[in-house]
Amino acid sequence: MKALLVGGGAREHAIADALFRSGAELIVAMYNQNPGILKISKEWLQCNETEINRIAHWACEKKADFAVIGLEDPLDAGISDELLKHGIPSVGPQKNAAKLEMSKLFTRNLMQKYNIPGQVQFHLVSEVDELKKIILASDEEFVLKPIGLTAGKGVKIMGEQLLTKEDAIKYGQLVIEQAIGKSNSIMLEEKLEGEEFTLQCFVDGTHVAPMPAVQDHKRAFAGDVGPNTGGMGSYSQADGLLPFLSAKEYRESLRIIEQVVLAVKREGYEYKGILYGQFMLTGRGLRVIEFNARFGDPECMNVLPLLKNNFIDVCWHIINGSLDKANIEFMKKATVCKYIVPKGYGVNPLIDKELMVDEAGVDNSGGRLYYAKINEKKGKLLTTKSRSIGILGIADTIEEAEIICENALSFVRGDFDVRHDIGKKALLDRRVKHMEEIRKGMLRSSHLSQQIASSQFYALS
Ligand code: AMP
Ligand code: GLY
Repeated sequence: MKALLVGGGAREHAIADALFRSGAELIVAMYNQNPGILKISKEWLQCNETEINRIAHWACEKKADFAVIGLEDPLDAGISDELLKHGIPSVGPQKNAAKLEMSKLFTRNLMQKYNIPGQVQFHLVSEVDELKKIILASDEEFVLKPIGLTAGKGVKIMGEQLLTKEDAIKYGQLVIEQAIGKSNSIMLEEKLEGEEFTLQCFVDGTHVAPMPAVQDHKRAFAGDVGPNTGGMGSYSQADGLLPFLSAKEYRESLRIIEQVVLAVKREGYEYKGILYGQFMLTGRGLRVIEFNARFGDPECMNVLPLLKNNFIDVCWHIINGSLDKANIEFMKKATVCKYIVPKGYGVNPLIDKELMVDEAGVDNSGGRLYYAKINEKKGKLLTTKSRSIGILGIADTIEEAEIICENALSFVRGDFDVRHDIGKKALLDRRVKHMEEIRKGMLRSSHLSQQIASSQFYALS
């Protein structure tokens, strides 16, 4: 079975590994020269991952049987539609269904139309005057969201990245006037407070098979401070839940994803691929922050290594619409993943710095290593501006997985940053306490949001 993989990050290294272990002959289209992926691939095409015609022609010439699309940009460009024209089906939705990630407005409207739980109140604004009016007249803080893809840099939060109302107006005006996120509109969402988690699911158009829940860490520095990043690391618990997440809440988030998949189907599209739900657990229950049309990065590394099934089989169940017969199972293990990033990542990353990796040392320590956006030049591994290497520990408990991850980290040398606090007891305890306080209603979220709901937002249901 020949599989085309699109993308060259650590998420794609984990996907490549799962395909390879399942017996696939791997061909890869990626921009950077990921050394881990190259090692297990038969052939590769160096390209921009949005060159969908070129990739489709190449895959056709190489007689790929199916494709797995790792990242969002080619999905946005319509790669699954293009590959299908050449007879190659994809794990990754076609353009119409991928709108769940590509248009935050499509998703919010869809949830509203089908009365799906987890909705967030919002204003849609396309006039600068209206933007000013709403922000100046309100006592509340908003989250400002461009509609389309912005490489994770579009969402800005009042009270965090936008410190004054003037900052918020200026940013909103910029988004509207420069069509950041491919639209001359912006969404002002109610600002939620709570704990975030990710639920990734395999989806075949109709059936939904969930994976263990994961929590990512977006802030660059220990203690959850500093700029937002693509994600500095993540953990999962052996029972598939999280220290602050109950089985009931997990099931509720799955139910939301199932309803969204059904709603997409009712709209006339079929969602086939990975659906990533980003949820926030608030004082008033679960809220959907966003959906992504692919695995999370780093969250992919927490779940795919635990998959007991042959991954190629799972891919074909997704493509054929038969996931209900797949009997998907994950090992009951905890995981901790920490990203090695270039020094200064998130602010001013140092590029072309050498990282020295003792792969055998990592292996022997029981850890796993997934190369990300790192380049191999003349036998040297050099940093780029993006994340460099994901290191994963797997064990019975988060605590043990964290220790394995830290031991494995010691086999990588060089000038890099890493968030050592991820998966450590102190941070986990803090999250649990935060959630307990929110549940007890000690924090602003519940009563304030209720006031907001009754005053200035559109009624959604
Ligand atoms: P997104 O790009 O939609 O994932 O947003 C980036 C981050 O912004 C999320 O991971 C959240 O931490 C935060 N965020 C997004 N929407 C909201 C919201 N309505 N309230 C509070 N925080 C939010
Ligand atoms: N970890 C966040 C993302 O993959 O979008």
